[in-house]
Amino acid sequence: MEDLNGRYGLNPPHSEIVQACRLIEPCDVLDMGCSSGRNALYLSQLGFKVTAVDANPQAIAALQSIVDREAIGTITPQIYDIHLADIGADYGFIACTVTLMFIDPSRVDAVLADMQRRTLPGGYNLIVCAMDTEQYPCPMNFPFTLQPGELSAAYQGWELVKYNEDLGTMHHGAQLQFATLLARKPG
Ligand SMILES: C[S@@+](CC[C@H](N)C(=O)[O-])C[C@H]1O[C@@H](n2cnc3c(N)ncnc32)[C@H](O)[C@@H]1O
Repeated sequence: MEDLNGRYGLNPPHSEIVQACRLIEPCDVLDMGCSSGRNALYLSQLGFKVTAVDANPQAIAALQSIVDREAIGTITPQIYDIHLADIGADYGFIACTVTLMFIDPSRVDAVLADMQRRTLPGGYNLIVCAMDTEQYPCPMNFPFTLQPGELSAAYQGWELVKYNEDLGTMHHGAQLQFATLLARKPG
């Protein structure tokens, strides 16, 4: 696979995206909080048709310029505020990696409900989100953090293909737990 991420100075795709794609067949995917597109570029190279959304216009413009330059026909970058909880189309795969913690806590339930509603039967949600626990209080000032068991509880009735609340390290060394969920909607 061509290293498009490297060519444009982007980090490699999130490791959970890479792992999820060993299981999920190419389909219509929504990348929620795509930033400059490190995951979107990877997904598109695997054959997914990607809608990549972010509230930051500069991030979307940066991704759009890569898409234009490389003549990629399978990525649609769009400005979208996740708070709206109105995805507006159905997807086989919805990914939201290290983004949910930037959302107003009062909107998180609506955002998750919309993601679930907009996932096709047999489709997947991937979420990676910071936690705040007694043992590992979140050292970052995120608007939203998950409590133990909170994310898995929100996916009752779905198959939890992967779920953990493992300890992670931020690039500046701070330790916190992240909830990682890959869930499959009943077919
Ligand atoms: C830490 S980055 C994660 C980017 C990407 N998902 C990844 O795995 O590299 C979080 C992204 O969420 C976006 N974001 C934050 N709040 C948002 C909102 N309300 N609506 C859409 N995007 C948002 C930010 O602009 C940023 O690009």
